Amino acid sequence: MFEYVTAGESHGRGLLCIVRGVPAGFQLRPGDIDRELSRRQLGYGRGGRMKIERDRVQLISGVRHGRTLGSPVGMMIENRDWSNWSEEMSVEDGSAEPVVQPRPGHADLAGACKYGHRDLRNVLERASARETAARVAAGAVAAVILRGFDIWVMSWVCCIGTVEADGEPAGPSDCSRRSAWRSWRSREEQTMLRCPDAEAERKMVGEIDQAARVGDTLGGVIQTVACGIPPGLGSYASRDRRLDGRLAAAVMSVPGIKGVEIGAGFRAARSVGSQVHDPILPSGPDGDVGFCRESNRAGGLEGGVTNGEDVVVRAAMKPIATLGQPIASVDIETGRAAEAHRERADVCAVPAAGVVVEAEVAFEIAAAFVRKFGGDSKDEIKANYRSYREGLP
Ligand SMILES: Cc1cc2nc3c(=O)[nH]c(=O)nc-3n(C[C@H](O)[C@H](O)[C@H](O)COP(=O)(O)O)c2cc1C
Repeated sequence: MFEYVTAGESHGRGLLCIVRGVPAGFQLRPGDIDRELSRRQLGYGRGGRMKIERDRVQLISGVRHGRTLGSPVGMMIENRDWSNWSEEMSVEDGSAEPVVQPRPGHADLAGACKYGHRDLRNVLERASARETAARVAAGAVAAVILRGFDIWVMSWVCCIGTVEADGEPAGPSDCSRRSAWRSWRSREEQTMLRCPDAEAERKMVGEIDQAARVGDTLGGVIQTVACGIPPGLGSYASRDRRLDGRLAAAVMSVPGIKGVEIGAGFRAARSVGSQVHDPILPSGPDGDVGFCRESNRAGGLEGGVTNGEDVVVRAAMKPIATLGQPIASVDIETGRAAEAHRERADVCAVPAAGVVVEAEVAFEIAAAFVRKFGGDSKDEIKANYRSYREGLP
């Protein structure tokens, strides 16, 4: 099983991530992970915290001389802000002023009810999206495996607030998958919001400024595309192995994500079958068996199984729940009306959430890939993959 677990509180000493089931023989260097961590920290509209943190991974286990060993990959990311919180977040006995005014839209109240906490900090420290840095580290390990088989996962912002972007970064039809991925990566660095449409991005920045001025927040939509995917990942045979279901669950588990679409998604529901399903066309010369599709409204998945087209996942993020101008709440000690707790927060975190969604998509695809072509080492997976491809029509 290729899987990961994370630990760590937002203002604790740091974040931990252990990835199990990483096959041996993949080249993995801290730089592969650090690059992804710094992408998660960027984006116009982030709060003060990201100015403090400079996320860097320490590879603790599972790698020797730059290659994976087949043992669990253990990673740690320090919280620089911990030095300002070491008393408040001490693991030793201690006391701190409790947080008692739950933020609507956050885990504060539901989490306090569930775990019996009277200090909401005990909830918000773990529910905070700081944890997603550890998820991005896990996704970076997955991406290294996928790249070894020419599978590339990329994402971009297609909507913030009321502004919709037009167009996509260069797709795989324009050039090789690898160079399409590379070219968007280098363009992405020049953008403010990871949006490929410069005009739309300018308007998005305007909406973020306006929201910040009035103490409000914004959400948006992210698109993720995985290209180079072979047919046959996932399975229709049992519910827990359907890859569409696994992707939706993984993406929905990202804090703040409230909607997930595969392919045409909700738009398909408002159309007719003949306009939605992708015709299967012959591709080989006469006498040869070969298929192709000229459209990909299925988003690369039919029956929970990849069909060889790009896997396309869109995710909708709600506006951030911590408002500069707090909304109504109740003090859980006194029962009286109160303003929601204020915590340092982002006005808009859609670009960063996109990096987390991309990591989740990469992880689920890598898990399905390792399951299908599984082996203990890169060479074994390579041999299995080659023989499978040779048998495909
Ligand atoms: C990268 C990222 C950054 C986020 N930053 C904040 C933030 O600064 N303040 C906040 O209240 N919520 C932020 N969120 C969203 C909350 O973590 C999320 O709304 C909260 O945990 C409740 O979970 P839910 O929205 O999924 O119900 C962020 C989410 C992501 C993915």
